Amino acid sequence: MASYSARDVHEDRAPVGMGSRTDRWWIEPVLVILTLVSFSAYAMWRAFEGNYYDSLQALERGAREVPLLLSPFYSPPFHEWFPGFKERFAISPALFVLVFPLSFRATCYYCRRSYYRAFFWDPPACGLPEPGMAKRKRYTGESAWPFVLQNLHRYALYFILIVVAFHYKHLYDACFVMGDAGRHFGIGLGTMIMGLDAVLLSLYVFSCHSWRHLIGGGLNLLSSAPIRLRLWRIVSALNARHGLYFWLSLITVGLADLYVRLVASGIIADPRII
Ligand code: FES
Repeated sequence: MASYSARDVHEDRAPVGMGSRTDRWWIEPVLVILTLVSFSAYAMWRAFEGNYYDSLQALERGAREVPLLLSPFYSPPFHEWFPGFKERFAISPALFVLVFPLSFRATCYYCRRSYYRAFFWDPPACGLPEPGMAKRKRYTGESAWPFVLQNLHRYALYFILIVVAFHYKHLYDACFVMGDAGRHFGIGLGTMIMGLDAVLLSLYVFSCHSWRHLIGGGLNLLSSAPIRLRLWRIVSALNARHGLYFWLSLITVGLADLYVRLVASGIIADPRII
């Protein structure tokens, strides 16, 4: 069996040459590009729109009763803490909020793997060499600017834990409706969507590699801390599906925002279940 050294790979002599793989390896990078570009374009449009993020707006448009829904793009609710946020800070509150999930997702180990492959072809897929690799003078990986910033992922995790807590607060609020009779209990499709968003975001965050390290790291003997060992096993099981939770939570957060926008703008009424 032939063996290949690191030098072979560096000099573009990888075992499988570009284009010689006969399977459809390009499907994954194409899907990654389409999904990330579409989501980013939608998120930017919504952030700059700065409107229709609170379902109570539907009351001003003639609705008799609405569920209490807040778009996840506007949570934590800086616009409530600083009334007149847009005028005071001259930016949409969503742009302030999106810094946290954006830095968390952009530095996510799984996400890095996906966009390094799809956008930088670094490499485009397993068993394929990186184009132009032979001309590279030196490889600095994530130890030089700007990719050294990827190492801040664990700090982005601390902020996203606060964001997760707010998603549950908004899920609680979504269990109530506001109308002619004041605020009272009521569950609708919006509550379900907000619940799905909170659960999938939690699965994504609590399957994070940095979270796993926080739970089980820093010990010479993990079995000496039985509770941490048990938690670490749970997080490790979640971690095996981290990539899946990344995509599902990304799609659901966009869906939750879209749903709130449709209700807040009066395009649809939230169907009540209870
Ligand atoms: Fe993906 Fe931490 S590794 S969120």
